[in-house]
Amino acid sequence: MFNAMSAPKAQNLTWHIGEVDREARAAAHGHRGAVLWFTGLSGSGKSTIGHRVERLLIERRAFAYVLDGDNVRHGLNSDLGFAAEDRIENIRRIGEVARLFADAGCLVLSAFISPYRKDRDRVRSLLPDGEFVEVFVDTPLEICEARDPKGLYKKARAGEISNFTGLDAPYEAPERPEVHLETESLSVDEAAAQVIRYLDEHDIIGAS
Ligand code: ADX
Repeated sequence: MFNAMSAPKAQNLTWHIGEVDREARAAAHGHRGAVLWFTGLSGSGKSTIGHRVERLLIERRAFAYVLDGDNVRHGLNSDLGFAAEDRIENIRRIGEVARLFADAGCLVLSAFISPYRKDRDRVRSLLPDGEFVEVFVDTPLEICEARDPKGLYKKARAGEISNFTGLDAPYEAPERPEVHLETESLSVDEAAAQVIRYLDEHDIIGAS
């Protein structure tokens, strides 16, 4: 059976070391690469806040890019649904993509529900210490459901969607996220500013 968690299927592979290392890339971009891993319920604001942070970073001439759940599911992960094993594979692939982007020197803003703690921790383990920043977009279910920007909670309540996160599929909240956004009391700008402040305080981006 296909098991993407195990060793590569292919034999005789050699890891090629390039001529440019992470320090040289960081010098070229003016900052090192990192993954800002936004996690939270559907409708919690991950993408909205992630895109605002991306804009603020680009305005500071940083190299930043949003990897967004719905978009990635149109392409790379178009073969995956929402059963537990598909979500695990979704996050595994995104984690590998995020790792490559970060290695290239990018500040990756990933916006996936990523409901399982173990999967998020696996992505963390792929990155050097300090270069995985878990951002918990903490919006209570009632608020996500009241907002229902895509009308999906309504459909799920009507029985038209099964395995919906927060209703009949689990969400395991982070225990010690690097950034905790309590969105009930924050505007999008304030939430984005809190993320930027973390990056500044941890020398992930330098003074502009
Ligand atoms: S994850 O659980 O595998 O991390 P991901 O972030 O890629 O999920 O996709 C979540 C998005 O898919 C939601 O924001 C929503 O628009 C859509 N979606 C469709 N069906 C479901 C479902 N059953 N549960 C959660 N989200 C769903």
